[in-house]
Order: sequence, then C-alpha cells, then structure tokens
Amino acid sequence: MSKSNERILNKLFEDSNTYIEKAINVNKDEFIKVVESRRSVRLYDDSQVEEKDMLKCLELSLLSANSSNLQPWEFYWVKDLEKKNKLIYYCLGQPAAATAKELIVCVARPDNWKLNTQSMLDMFKDKELPQAVSTYYKKIVPLAYNQGFLGLFGFLKRISTFFIGLKRPIPREPVSYNDMKIWAQKSTSLACQTLMLSLRAFGYDSCPMEGIDSFRIKKLLKLPKQAEICMVISAGKRASNGVYGKRFRLDKERFIKIV
Ligand SMILES: Cc1cc2nc3c(=O)[nH]c(=O)nc-3n(C[C@H](O)[C@H](O)[C@H](O)COP(=O)(O)O)c2cc1C
Repeated sequence: MSKSNERILNKLFEDSNTYIEKAINVNKDEFIKVVESRRSVRLYDDSQVEEKDMLKCLELSLLSANSSNLQPWEFYWVKDLEKKNKLIYYCLGQPAAATAKELIVCVARPDNWKLNTQSMLDMFKDKELPQAVSTYYKKIVPLAYNQGFLGLFGFLKRISTFFIGLKRPIPREPVSYNDMKIWAQKSTSLACQTLMLSLRAFGYDSCPMEGIDSFRIKKLLKLPKQAEICMVISAGKRASNGVYGKRFRLDKERFIKIV
C-alpha cells in the first residue's frame, strides 16, 4: 500500500492499543422486547417518572456512539414549571407534550467541537497522553472540523478533497457549516434513540417531537445561534389509549438492501 493510501486512523490506534475489553453476554430477547414495545406515545397517564430513573436514562444516552467522541449534544430536562408550560406551547400544544410528565429538549451543538476537543485533552492532562489520542485530537480533529473564517477553510477542504479524491478514497465531509450541523445532528439523534429505548427499558414511554418552534425553544433555553434543536422528547407512562394505532412499517425489502 502506498504511503498516501495508508489507513491513517487504523494505523494510529491499532499499533498502540493494548487495552482489552471482553464483550459481555446480553439477553437478546429482553432487548427485542424493548425495541418492539417502544411506541410513540401521545397520551400519558398520571404516573410520575422517578427522578433517579430519568437521570439514569439521560446518563445512558451519553454512552451513545458519537463522532470522534466529541459528544456534540446537550439534553435539557425542563423541570421549571413556567418554562415547561412555555415549552408545551412551543411544542404547539401537542398532546404528546401537554400530557407528558417530563420533557427533554435534545440539542445538537456543532459549535462545541473545539471546546470538547480541549476538554478531552484536559482530561488526560495529568496522565500520560497516548500518542494516538494526542495526534488525533491535536491534529486530525482540527483539520476535520474546523471550517475557518466565513467557512473559507471548509471551502479549501472541499476543493482539495475533490482533487485528492480522484486518486484515492478520502473523507468528504464536513466541509461547510451546514455539514457541521448534520455532523452534530447525527450523533445527537443516536443519543435520542438511546434515551427513548432506555425509558422503555425502565418501564416508561416516550415520544420524539420535531413539530416544534425551534426558534422559540432556543430563546427559552438561552441557547446560542449555532445550537440546533434536534428534537423534544416527552416521557411518562402511556395512558390506556396513549398509542394511536397498531404499528406498521413498509415492506422491509424496500429498506434492507443486501448488495
Ligand atoms: C425526528 C422525529 C420527529 C417526530 N416528530 C413527531 C411530532 O412532532 N409529533 C408526534 O406526535 N410524533 C412525532 N414523531 C413520532 C413519529 O410519528 C413516529 O415515530 C412514527 O410514526 C413511528 O411510530 P412509532 O414511533 O410508534 O414506531 C417523530 C419521530 C421522529 C423520529
């Protein structure tokens, strides 16, 4: 393999890794039950969500896979009654929000990549920083995620990527601020799914909502312009008529392609 074709990331980590973590056994039937019984619930009953359960579900969400482990997300559990009522209004009064016991605003933070990179490096400050980690966060991450003043660095990356890409595979994105939004939204969405599955595993229900006024919600939470509302997730226990219909999906052949 020519030098330019070396798999830089694999080489960085494979060569130096001495860490071993065995895969524990899990009960697949229980997992299937969690996935199959998660439904979007639009009406909740009066049962409370225990604080410790909600906190654990939120903590589990933070274990979701995320790009470069830069954790470009934030979760606002809105407990303040005045804010909560406003949030319900900004969720357009949807029953999934209005009858919910708890509401979580899930926020993607494309703007936090630099801050979180520094935090990652700070975490290792007093320990010996593995060379692979140092190179990754000091060199590769800034190259990959910095878009520069007015996105000019991103534009240059787009052009160079095009030409280098004529000869060999190369990561194409993110090369613009819009790409960064997608970048952060992807990881945040995965955490949202973890949150909903965790709630189900703890005996609760949820509903993801994007039928919301993101502009007003950002103002409510005093979020900066660059923050993106990914979705609002409501939580509680389903009322007997809380699920609006039998679950259906289109034919799996349309979506699962074995090529
Ligand atoms: C990103 C996203 C946004 C959604 N927005 C809303 C919403 O605003 N209101 C609502 O009642 N359901 C909303 N849903 C729920 C979907 O309608 C629901 O997931 C879909 O119909 C499949 O049903 P299931 O979740 O019960 O499997 C949303 C789901 C996702 C993933």
